[in-house]
Amino acid sequence: MPATEFRTEDWADYRMDYAHPHREIEPLEREIAVVQKALEALHEASALPHTRYDHDLMLAHRRAAAELFEIPWTAISPRMGRLLYAVNAIARPENMIAAGVFCGFTFISNAGAAVGPGACYQAKNLIGIEIDPDSAALAERNVRRIDPTGAARIVAADAVPFVADFPDPVNLLYLDADGDSTTGKGVYLDILEGCYDDMPPGSLVLAHNSVNCAGMLRRYLAFVRDPAHFRASVNVIFDPEGLEVSVK
Ligand SMILES: C[S@@+](CC[C@H](N)C(=O)[O-])C[C@H]1O[C@@H](n2cnc3c(N)ncnc32)[C@H](O)[C@@H]1O
Repeated sequence: MPATEFRTEDWADYRMDYAHPHREIEPLEREIAVVQKALEALHEASALPHTRYDHDLMLAHRRAAAELFEIPWTAISPRMGRLLYAVNAIARPENMIAAGVFCGFTFISNAGAAVGPGACYQAKNLIGIEIDPDSAALAERNVRRIDPTGAARIVAADAVPFVADFPDPVNLLYLDADGDSTTGKGVYLDILEGCYDDMPPGSLVLAHNSVNCAGMLRRYLAFVRDPAHFRASVNVIFDPEGLEVSVK
């Protein structure tokens, strides 16, 4: 299956306010329809077994995050938040790791399918890794408000060694770390290489910024789009950031 792309006509004009991420950009029905088409493209590429998820649970998750999370800024648009929730709700990863979670909103957009009021399954590990201690503390505070059980947790660490040393197979890896001044988003490939060999067939890797950071991600994108490494890889382009979804 070759690398492929899902693109909406309005992707460049669908712009969010990073400081007010919950502000409506389009009618909910339109958001649901766009994300559904993206899920169908992922299903056709064999990345997902089906495209069904509970829309009421998704809204319960969104409302809780809007109410309980302190978010200085985020580039996760409502379309992207819905897609991340839906992919996790459909794939139901036993072990999910999110690398580079800043205040935790990206993390909960994934983990919200398994904890809090939007939960639709139980996971074994839901871990967000953040290298900056202050951001990690904020993310952990946010996550605790939505998941008092501790099932989802934030670890203050460098995702490169953390993922390489993780003892269980990673079923879903979400990449958003921006590395240091030399690596930038190129650090995605370093993180992925640490767990790639142990990822079971059907595992997913979701890489944020596949559009606006495509230059920095050149080596990463070449790796995941090589059929020797991943069965399929779909670039989802429905906002200016984009998400590369790769299935092993
Ligand atoms: C740009 S932010 C992600 C924000 C996210 N896209 C959003 O819109 O909410 C990237 C985060 O990755 C963290 N980071 C950078 N390198 C990292 C590494 N090696 N391991 C873990 N976190 C890292 C940074 O501290 C930063 O908080």
